[in-house]
Amino acid sequence: MEPTRISVLVVDDEPALREVLTLRIQDWGYDVTTAVDAAEAERALRQSRPDVILSDVVLPGISGVELLRWLKRNDETIPVIMMTAHGNIDAAVDAMKAGARDFLTKPLDHAVLRGLLDSVAAERTQRQLDHELDANLEGSASIGGLVGKSRSIRELQKLIQVIASSDASAIITGESGTGKEVVAHAIHTLSNRHDKPFVALNAAAIPEGLIESELFGHEQGAFTGANRSRPGAFELANRGTLFLDEIAEMPMALQPKLLRILEDSYARRLGGSKEIHFDVRVLAATNRSVAAAVRDGLLREDLFYRLNVFEIALSPLRERPDDIPLLARHFVREFSRKHSMPVEGVNDASRALLEAYSWPGNVRELRNVIERAVIVARTGWIEPRHLSPHIQAIKPGGPTTIQVPAGMTLADAERLLILTTLDRTGQNKAEAARQLGLDVKTIRNRLRSYGLDK
Ligand SMILES: Nc1ncnc2c1ncn2[C@@H]1O[C@H](COP(=O)(O)OP(=O)(O)OP(=O)(O)O)[C@@H](O)[C@H]1O
Ligand SMILES: [Mg+2]
Repeated sequence: MEPTRISVLVVDDEPALREVLTLRIQDWGYDVTTAVDAAEAERALRQSRPDVILSDVVLPGISGVELLRWLKRNDETIPVIMMTAHGNIDAAVDAMKAGARDFLTKPLDHAVLRGLLDSVAAERTQRQLDHELDANLEGSASIGGLVGKSRSIRELQKLIQVIASSDASAIITGESGTGKEVVAHAIHTLSNRHDKPFVALNAAAIPEGLIESELFGHEQGAFTGANRSRPGAFELANRGTLFLDEIAEMPMALQPKLLRILEDSYARRLGGSKEIHFDVRVLAATNRSVAAAVRDGLLREDLFYRLNVFEIALSPLRERPDDIPLLARHFVREFSRKHSMPVEGVNDASRALLEAYSWPGNVRELRNVIERAVIVARTGWIEPRHLSPHIQAIKPGGPTTIQVPAGMTLADAERLLILTTLDRTGQNKAEAARQLGLDVKTIRNRLRSYGLDK
C-alpha cells in the first residue's frame, strides 16, 4: 500500500539544519514546514496540524520540552521526536518523561530519522484505512449484518432488500462458509416478520427418520420414542421464517409432502388429526449447485420450482478479495471484544497474506483464522507471525498471471502454471493442488518429472 504523505513540522533555531532537514524530508516524499522557536511552532500548529513534530530541545525562549508539555496539556496526540546537539542524557530523560515519541542526538543519523518518519506514515495509513473500514462496517450493519463491499456483496445487499420486502421463498447457494445462513437471517431481519421466529432446520444434521417429525411435529405415541407431543419447525416458525438448510439432503420420500404443505399452508402433526394452519416464509440453502441436485435426483424439480422464486448465489471468498480486509476488521472487533484483548486490527503485511490466500473454507475459515490471531497477538496489530503457519507461508505479490505464448507446448504451459502456483503458495503443495484442481499426488509426480522433488 502507498504510504500516506505525512507532514512534518521541524522546530529548530539553526537555519542550516532547517534547510538540510527540509530537503531530506521532502526527498523522502513528505511535506515539511519549519519554525524557529516554540512561539512560531504554536502559530504553525494553529494553521494546520502536522502528523509529526521534530523539535530541538534547546530553543530560544520556551524549550522544546516545554513545547511538548504544552502540547500534552492540550491533549494533543501528535507524536513528537526530540533532538539535541549534545547527547544530553538529562534532556533525553526529560523529553521521554514528557511523552516524546523518540529522541535523536545530533548530528542526526538520517537513516534513523527516516525510519521514524516512515513508521509514523505507516501508522497514519493504517488508521486511515481502519477508519474507512469502520465507516463501511457501519453501513453493512444496517443491511442485516452482512459485511462486505465487493460488487457481488453490494448487489447481494440490494437483492436481499428486495426479497425481504416480499414474502417469496428463495434458494441460497454457495460453497460452505460463504454466509448462506447469514443471508437467510438478514432477509428475515429486514422483513416485516423480523419480530417473529427465525427457525433453522438442517436436513443434513438430523437422522433421516426424524426429519419428518422435526418438520411437522408429532403427537404423543405417534411412533416409538414419541413420549410427548411436540410442535414441528413449521409450527415453531409460524408468522416468521423457516430456514431449510442443506435442502438437497432432504429425503426424497419426504419432498412431495413438503411441497404439498408449502402449497396448502396446512400441516398435520405425525399421529395427529388436527390440521394446523401456518404462515411461514421458507428460505432454503444448499452448498451444491441446485441444477446439479435436480439432475442427480436429490431435489425434486417441482419442489425446486416452488422454492426457487429467487435464487441467491453467494460467490466464494477467493472471488471477492475486496471483502477480506473488511471482514477481517469485523472479526477483529468481534473477538477482541469477546476475549477482552485490545487488538487494533490487521497490519499491512498480514492483510497482504490474507488477500493472497485462497480461503477454501471461505468466510468461516477467515473468522477462525482471525479469532486465533487475536488470541495469539493479545494486543496491538495482528502481524504475520500471529497467523496460521499455512497462511504465513504464502508469498503475496508473486506473479498472478503468466504468459503463455502461442506455440508453447501444453506440457510446458502446465509446468509454468504449476511452478507459479507453488511460488505463490509458498511451496505449499496441498494449497497449490487445491487451487489447480489437482490432487497432491499429481503435483508430486509432476515435480519429480521436472527433477524438482527432493
Ligand atoms: N458477509 C458476511 N458478513 C459477516 N459474517 C459472515 C459473512 N459471511 C459469513 N459470515 C460468517 O461466517 C461464518 C459462516 O457463515 P454461514 O454459517 O452463514 O455459512 P454457510 O454458507 O451457511 O456455510 P455452510 O454451508 O457450511 O453451512 C459465520 O460465522 C458467519 O457469521
Ligand atoms: Mg450454513
